[in-house]
Amino acid sequence: MKFIKSEIIGCGYRLPEKILTNEDLSKIVDTSDEWISTRTGIKTRHIVADGEYTSDLAVEASKTAIKNSGIKPEDIDLVIMATITPDNTTPAAACKVSEKLKLKEGTPAFDISAACSGFVYALSVANAMIKNNMANNVLVIGAETLSRIVNWNDRNTCVLFGDGAGAVILHKTITEDKNASGIMECAIFADAYRYGDLQTSGGVSTTKDAGEILMNGKEVFKIAVHCLSEGTKTVLQKAGLTINDIDWLLPHQANSRIIEATAKMLGIEDKKVIIALEDTGNTSAASIPITLARKVQSKEIKKGDVIAMTSMGAGFTWGAVLLKF
Ligand code: ACO
Repeated sequence: MKFIKSEIIGCGYRLPEKILTNEDLSKIVDTSDEWISTRTGIKTRHIVADGEYTSDLAVEASKTAIKNSGIKPEDIDLVIMATITPDNTTPAAACKVSEKLKLKEGTPAFDISAACSGFVYALSVANAMIKNNMANNVLVIGAETLSRIVNWNDRNTCVLFGDGAGAVILHKTITEDKNASGIMECAIFADAYRYGDLQTSGGVSTTKDAGEILMNGKEVFKIAVHCLSEGTKTVLQKAGLTINDIDWLLPHQANSRIIEATAKMLGIEDKKVIIALEDTGNTSAASIPITLARKVQSKEIKKGDVIAMTSMGAGFTWGAVLLKF
């Protein structure tokens, strides 16, 4: 019997050079390093320079992912980019990235807007397209310049976010080994009745601008813990596995307290839980691919490791991908 697998064969990430510290933020709004560190685990975040755009970060992350995968740019036959901060309202940022990478003409490219869950949504769609013989090598990107939609006068939100991009090459393999590397299960959800708890103040059709982030922080915190753990449980259940069977829990990197509470709810050992947001803040759709790429680069994540990637974001959208790396 033959199995079609969607395997991650290369990862990359890009963080802008400029670093904004908690100390810097305390000169902009009424806050302190102590408040931000203890409530969120964040110490610094990267912020794009003037003239530096989401597509620039995405292109650099993609170049590294392509190089690490060993494939050639012309082998890519689909680009899916998760972002809520595209360079332009239209065309899709994925098209800009495709143009800058000089991918072959006709390569389909589109964006997914699912906020912090964007990368999990994008991987799920890419996996479905591979399984349906619609693609062989998918460039899947999560990239954001959230600094462009943050209200820098709102201490409730401006301390939380950062800019960055992460990318992977998802490659189709046909194998007789049922347990070969690849995506094992995906699950995506949206609870749209919570629309107003995390949103921008406007958008192209309402205010004719991008708006700025507004958040009901306490509600988001509670729901995030619930969704991150439920997403993980769902993919584990679909795969017939338990939490003890995974090597890593790689949650959306929003806030260390959210991740710790999720880990407690799931009953997973601390050493398997990835918290890597101290120097990035919350980079929305970029947070999981950035963290994955960094952990692969540092050789902590190894070939064959089983990883549960779980996320939750505005919408509320949420979901998880269970992957054998
Ligand atoms: N510096 C100092 N004080 C602040 C700051 C700040 N940056 N921000 C808010 N405060 C104040 C508030 O005004 C409030 O003051 P008040 O009591 O006088 O009204 C007080 O701090 C609130 O304090 P706490 O109740 O201790 O705050 P809490 O423990 O709820 O933490 C936080 C706030 C960090 C925002 C928390 O609710 C949270 O993490 N929510 C989730 C937010 C998140 O991660 N969103 C990301 C997008 S969604 C996602 O990615 C999953």
